[in-house]
Amino acid sequence: MTDNSSPIPSFAGAGNLVYREPEVPRFVSGEGCWLTAADGRRYLDAEAANGTVPFGYDATLLHEALRRCEQLPGLPSFCESDLRLKVLSRLERLVSGALGTPGRVELDLGGAQAMETALRIAFAANGPGTVVVFEGAFHGRSGVTSMLSSSPRYRELLAAWGLEVVRLPNPDCRRCPHAPATGGCGTGCREAVARWGSELSGVGGNGFRRKVSAFVFESVQNVGGMVEPEHALLHSAVDHAREQGAVIIADEIFTGMHRVGPRWGFQRAGIVPDVVVTSKGLANGGAALSMVWSREPLGHPDRYRPGSHSSTYIGIPSALAMVDAVLDRWEGWTTVDKDILRLEESMRERLAAVAARHPDLVASVDAMGGTARVVLSGPHAGRLRHLFRSAHPEAGVLVATTGMAPDVINLHPPLVIGEPELDLFAEVFDTALDGLV
Ligand SMILES: Cc1ncc(COP(=O)(O)O)c(C=O)c1O
Repeated sequence: MTDNSSPIPSFAGAGNLVYREPEVPRFVSGEGCWLTAADGRRYLDAEAANGTVPFGYDATLLHEALRRCEQLPGLPSFCESDLRLKVLSRLERLVSGALGTPGRVELDLGGAQAMETALRIAFAANGPGTVVVFEGAFHGRSGVTSMLSSSPRYRELLAAWGLEVVRLPNPDCRRCPHAPATGGCGTGCREAVARWGSELSGVGGNGFRRKVSAFVFESVQNVGGMVEPEHALLHSAVDHAREQGAVIIADEIFTGMHRVGPRWGFQRAGIVPDVVVTSKGLANGGAALSMVWSREPLGHPDRYRPGSHSSTYIGIPSALAMVDAVLDRWEGWTTVDKDILRLEESMRERLAAVAARHPDLVASVDAMGGTARVVLSGPHAGRLRHLFRSAHPEAGVLVATTGMAPDVINLHPPLVIGEPELDLFAEVFDTALDGLV
C-alpha cells in the first residue's frame, strides 16, 4: 500500500477539511478527471468536488470566461450589465423550458444562501410557516438551512431555532429502516406521509395561524447517501404538501444539470416544482454562483419585493462569464442524454462485477445518471475511502462518504469520464476492498 500524503501543517486554517485525516494530498494541478498532488501521485476524482466539475478540470473554460468579461469593471450586485441579463435569460430558459411554465431567476452565492432565498420566496407567497423535509436531507450549513439538514451536528453552533421544521421519514426505500425486507415503498408509508401532513394541519393547516409554507426535497439525497426517494412516496408527499398550500421547492444544487440523468433530477419522478435551486453544474467549479428559479408569479416584484435579498458579490462579471462559458458547453453537448445513460450503465456494470467478487463486503451497488452508490455490509465507508486513495500503487481514487450514511460510498465523477478511467476505477476499488479484510 502506498500513502504519499503530506502531514497537515498546524497553522491558520490548514486541515479544516470535512474529511478529517492526519495526512491529506495537497493538489497542485488538474486535467480532465485527474488531480495531481505535490508528491506527483495522481488521483482519479470520483467525487468531482461533490458535483461542481461536470466537465472535468479544464483551464480553457476559465480562460474563455475571463476573455468574456475582460472589458467589464468589477460590477457589484446593484449594477446591471448586458452579461447579467444574458445569463439570467439563459438560466430562466433552462427551467422554464423543462417545465413549460414561465418563471423568474434570482442569482445568489453558493447553495445554502440560494436555499434561503427560495424559502423567502415561499414565505412571501404563504407567510412564514412550517417547512417540511425528508429525514436524510441536506440543504446547507447556514443558520437557516442547517435547520432543514438532517444532521444535528450542523445546528450545534448556529441555527435559526425559530424555524419550524417537520421531517418526513427517511425515503431510502431500498434499505428502508421501517420495513427492511420489502422491495419498494409500500402503501403503508405513502399513507403515513399523508397522515403526518394531516397531523400537521391539525396544529395549523389552512385556516389556522401556523401553516405549511414549503416542502423542500432533493430528487436524490447526496449527503444522505445517494438516496433516491421512492417515486410513489415522493408524489404522496408533494401532493399532500400542495393540499396544505405549500410551495414545492426542488433543491437541485447537486442533482441539477444531468448529474442524475435528465437535466433536472425532479424529471426522474415527474414532479413539477414551484421553485428550483441549482448551482454546482453551472460553473464547473469556477465561481460560487447559484440560481433560484420560481414559477410566475411567485418571484414577481409585486409579491417578492426587490431588495428582499441581495449580496454584494452576486453576479460579479467573472462569475457571470464563467456561467456563460459553461452554458455554451452544455448547449454544445447535443448527445448528453444518451451519453449519461451510457455512463450510468458502464458504472453499474463495473461496480456489479467488483461487488460479485466481494459478496461479504458489498451489500448492493446502483447507478443513477452520473452518480453511483456502493452500500457496504457495515459502517466501513471511512476506512474504504482511505484505501481508495492509498491502496493501489499506480493511482488513487477520490470518493465521497458522509456521516449520515457510514456504510455508503458516493460516486460522482466528472460526466466526461471515459471507459479506460472506469476500468482503472474498478481495479482500484477491487484493491481497496482487498485491503478492508
Ligand atoms: C443538495 C444540496 N443542497 C445544498 C447544498 C449546500 O450548498 P453550499 O455548500 O454551496 O452552501 C449542497 C452542497 O453540497 C447540496 O448538495
